[in-house]
Amino acid sequence: MASQPPARSYPRVSDKPGPDRSDPLISARPLAEYRAMFELSDADLAGHILDCPGGGASFAAEVRELGGTVTSVDPAYGRGADDLGPHVVDEVDRGNQYVRDNLGIYDWSWFTDPECHRRMRLGGARRFAADYAAHPDRYLSGALPALAFEDRRFDLVLSSHLLFTYGDRLDLDFHLAAARELARVSAGEVRLYPLVTIDSRPYGPLDELRRRLAAAGIASEERKVPYVFQLGADRCLALSGP
Ligand SMILES: C[S@@+](CC[C@H](N)C(=O)[O-])C[C@H]1O[C@@H](n2cnc3c(N)ncnc32)[C@H](O)[C@@H]1O
Repeated sequence: MASQPPARSYPRVSDKPGPDRSDPLISARPLAEYRAMFELSDADLAGHILDCPGGGASFAAEVRELGGTVTSVDPAYGRGADDLGPHVVDEVDRGNQYVRDNLGIYDWSWFTDPECHRRMRLGGARRFAADYAAHPDRYLSGALPALAFEDRRFDLVLSSHLLFTYGDRLDLDFHLAAARELARVSAGEVRLYPLVTIDSRPYGPLDELRRRLAAAGIASEERKVPYVFQLGADRCLALSGP
């Protein structure tokens, strides 16, 4: 009997410390940022959306309050509410300190200043923590590049601040496998944002990734979005197919 090749193991995002922080941030973006980063229309918000990684974002809680349906997936959702809720609130100051230490790599048109950034993210973190405690069943523990969903389960799939952001420690094979997995579970589009790394540099192998996706039958299109915070991060990548 032919022996099976060993399963590919991918580096975790925390395997290689970045220049700024030893662990990836569990950030807490509200609906307003998601709407702009992914240029979401009301029609987009009416479908069943997968948010992966959901992190500490209040996007899902806010969309549900509007009557929508969001499934959030993140490895951090293995943690209990007493642990993850306060941690996400604490993470706001860690992220805000990085912003204050690196003011020059940001565009200050969305947030007027670092205090505005802190206030808006704190609002998101608190809203997430309350929803996570009240409805833990809405948050599923899982990790790219393997999701426990059937093909085409969602109408729209969103993924922000994991792919490309941690391009210094997650390799091209991981990006390809993760993007293909997100496309597999979407009946519509996958939208990825931003297309720059954590220090606001363009993700180098983006063209190669798009070539490999095209070879796998997945079309990709860069779209300008009405949001920029990291300098140069004014585009999302929309995937469709196979
Ligand atoms: C910077 S946060 C982004 C959260 C959210 N999308 C936002 O924009 O606020 C990055 C998240 O990626 C999660 N993460 C790390 N490795 C992952 C993986 N292999 N698959 C899915 N999520 C992962 C972390 O737990 C963390 O919550």
